[in-house]
Amino acid sequence: MNPAKISFSRIGQLANPPIISHIMAVALENPDMLSLAAGFTDTKALPVQPVRDATLALSSNGKTPEYLQYGTTIGRPKLRKFVAKRLSQIDQHQSSAYNLDNVMLTTGSQQALYLAIQVLCDPGDILLVESPSYFVFLELLKGLGIQAVGIPVDENDEMDTVALSGMLAGWQSEGSLDKVKGVYIESWFSNPSTHCLSNGEKTALAEVLKEAGLLVPILEDGAYMELYFEEAFPSTSIFAIEAFDGFPRLFFGTFTKPFASGLKVGYAICDHSDILSKMVNVKGHHDFGSSNYTQSIVETAMTDGSYDAQLNKGRDRYLQKMEILNEVLIQQGLPDSGWNWQKPAGGMYFWVKGPVQADTSIESAMFENAVKEGVLYVPGDLCFAPEGPKSYMRLTYGVLERDDLAEAGQRLANVIKQSN
Ligand SMILES: Cc1ncc(COP(=O)(O)O)c(C=O)c1O
Repeated sequence: MNPAKISFSRIGQLANPPIISHIMAVALENPDMLSLAAGFTDTKALPVQPVRDATLALSSNGKTPEYLQYGTTIGRPKLRKFVAKRLSQIDQHQSSAYNLDNVMLTTGSQQALYLAIQVLCDPGDILLVESPSYFVFLELLKGLGIQAVGIPVDENDEMDTVALSGMLAGWQSEGSLDKVKGVYIESWFSNPSTHCLSNGEKTALAEVLKEAGLLVPILEDGAYMELYFEEAFPSTSIFAIEAFDGFPRLFFGTFTKPFASGLKVGYAICDHSDILSKMVNVKGHHDFGSSNYTQSIVETAMTDGSYDAQLNKGRDRYLQKMEILNEVLIQQGLPDSGWNWQKPAGGMYFWVKGPVQADTSIESAMFENAVKEGVLYVPGDLCFAPEGPKSYMRLTYGVLERDDLAEAGQRLANVIKQSN
C-alpha cells in the first residue's frame, strides 16, 4: 500500500502550536509551579450562584426549552440588544451604530477577532498593531500568514503618530500601502501593557490614517473595558469619536473576563453591514452559531443584575490581588534592580520592564531559571510584531490566590536577582 499522502493547506502548514500552550504545558508538568503567565480569571470568584439561578430560571419558566435548541448564527436578539445598548450607555452617545443589527455573538471575542481577520485579510497583507499588542492575536495573524506591523512608540512608550505618518509615507512611495488592511488597537487596560488609549490618542491615530488616505477598518478590542478597579477610564469607543467617521469600525467585547470565562460568550459590533454579514456567513461555515445555552445564561445575568454584581466583585478582587503582587515585587527590591512597571488601574496584568540588557525570552537563562524556581511569566518579546525588545515580561494576578501570589512574586524576584 502506498504511504498516505497529506499535503497541508497554507493554514495547515502554518498551524504551529500556540506558544501559550507550551507555557501551560510546562506549568502542568510541575504541580508546584505557580503561573503568573496564562490570563485565567479568578476561579474562586466565578459566578456559581448567578449561573445556578439563571439555569434554574431558564428551566422553570414553563416555556419550551429553546435555550437548549440551536440558535441563530448571529446570536440571541435580546443579548445583542443589551450589548448595543450597554456600549451606547458607556459611551454616553447615541448613533445608529449601537443597534442589535450591528451585533453578532461569538464563542469568546477571540472567535470574533478571527472572523474579522478572515474576511478582511489575505496572506501577505499587513495589519497595524500597537507595540506591544495582545500576543494571542499576533499568533492568530501569523497562523493566517498575515503580517503584523507595530505602530512606532516614543520614549514614553506612547503611540508615536509622527513616526507612523513617516512609516506610511515610506510604504506609499514603495507602493506597498495598499497591503495595509486594518488597524488593531486595545483601548482599555491593554493586554499586556495595561495602557488605556485616550480619545485624543485615538483621534490622532485617525487623523494620521486619513492623511495617508488609509480609510481601513479599525478593530478596537475592549476586552477589559469594564474591568477597571475604581473608576472607568474617561474615554469612549471609536463609535463615539468623530475622527473615525468614514472608517469601517469594529468593536470586540467579551463576557469571559468580566463574568465567566468558561461560558465563552463574546461579541463583535460593526457599523459596516457588509463586513458584519460576511463575518456571520463565515461563522455559519464554522459552527452556525455559538452555544445558545451559554448566551441565555449571560442574557439572564444581564437582566437580573447579577452581571453587574459580578463585575463589581471582580473589580474588588483584582484590585486586591494586584496590590499584593505589586507590594511583593517592591518589597523584594525589583525597582532597585532596574525593573519597573506602571501600577495598573484595571485589567489583569503587570507589564514589567527590565534593564535593556535583560533577556526574558523563552530561550533565555532567565526563563529556564524561572521554570526551575517554579514560577512562570509571559516573555515580553512575544508581544511585539514583527520583533521587539526582550527586556519585558507580562505577569497576571488573575487566578492565583493571595498566598500563592505572594510566593510567586518572591520566586520571580529570586529569578531576577540571579540574573543581575
Ligand atoms: C485583549 C484580549 N482580547 C480578546 C481576548 C479573547 O478573550 P475571549 O475569547 O475569552 O473573549 C483576550 C483573552 O485573553 C484578550 O486578552
